[in-house]
Amino acid sequence: MYNTLLTSLENGIFIVTINRPDKLNALNKDVMSELNNVLNEIETNQEIKAIIITGAGEKAFIAGADIKEFVGLSNEEGKALAKTGQDIFLRIENCTKPIVAAVNGFALGGGCELAMACHFRIASDNAKFGQPEVNLGLIPGYGGTQRLVQLIGKGRALELLMTGNMIDASIALDYGLVNHVVPQDDLLAKAKMILEQIISKAPLAVGKCITAANAVFSNENGYEIELKSFGECFSTNDMKEGTSAFIEKRKPLFKGN
Ligand code: COA
Repeated sequence: MYNTLLTSLENGIFIVTINRPDKLNALNKDVMSELNNVLNEIETNQEIKAIIITGAGEKAFIAGADIKEFVGLSNEEGKALAKTGQDIFLRIENCTKPIVAAVNGFALGGGCELAMACHFRIASDNAKFGQPEVNLGLIPGYGGTQRLVQLIGKGRALELLMTGNMIDASIALDYGLVNHVVPQDDLLAKAKMILEQIISKAPLAVGKCITAANAVFSNENGYEIELKSFGECFSTNDMKEGTSAFIEKRKPLFKGN
């Protein structure tokens, strides 16, 4: 179905693996277009409850946008390329199903940006993060200047952006860029374990957590979004089920409606 992605669906957890290991899973046009297509599948397939994005091989999550495709672009073409990337990564960020990045190696440039667009990140102990675009006379263009500041604060972000230096998994953990660091062999199991917990909760409520948290960084009034979303929960069957189950001292069975 896809040429540059591997996908698998098991017990509601959909694993998307960027599959160009000989190019360290660099994001070329084909990968970006297929990422956009896989988001259509994620949004419409009711069997998909949660998503893990990872990279093929043991070396890289994604070593960046494909640098070869940058050669010879004009100002306008460069801007258009970044706009496409920003739009796709915004779709990831705003998806109401949980998306976790399982970072299994280098997460550089567009790879770090993709990981940051996910709802949270888990890293293997060999992972390395960085925005090395200044080495190429560039800056991040897929939202990296914004999300890095949001996630680790302006001072740390600007040091990484301006030096182009990489940080290892333990520093990424210390900075709050990743939630957990585990041995590479345990990476997918850790991501699955957390997502299994999440998908046992009320899906509409989970989606509303994402939307409300994202509003912190948007032009919208996050408190208003929270009020609206909180109110909407009261008209869901899952809220009735959750509260009844608590009172009846049983486990809730959420249906996502
Ligand atoms: N775009 C295109 N190709 C890339 C790439 C990228 N961002 N990152 C790696 N590759 C390719 C290399 O060109 C090489 O291909 P080749 O075998 O056809 O020459 C292959 O992936 C393996 O990479 P290589 O550089 O040989 O591996 P390494 O272990 O020596 O170095 C990195 C690993 C990650 C340090 C190095 O590949 C690198 O610096 N990549 C670019 C990172 C970057 O600047 N990303 C931001 C882009 S905006």
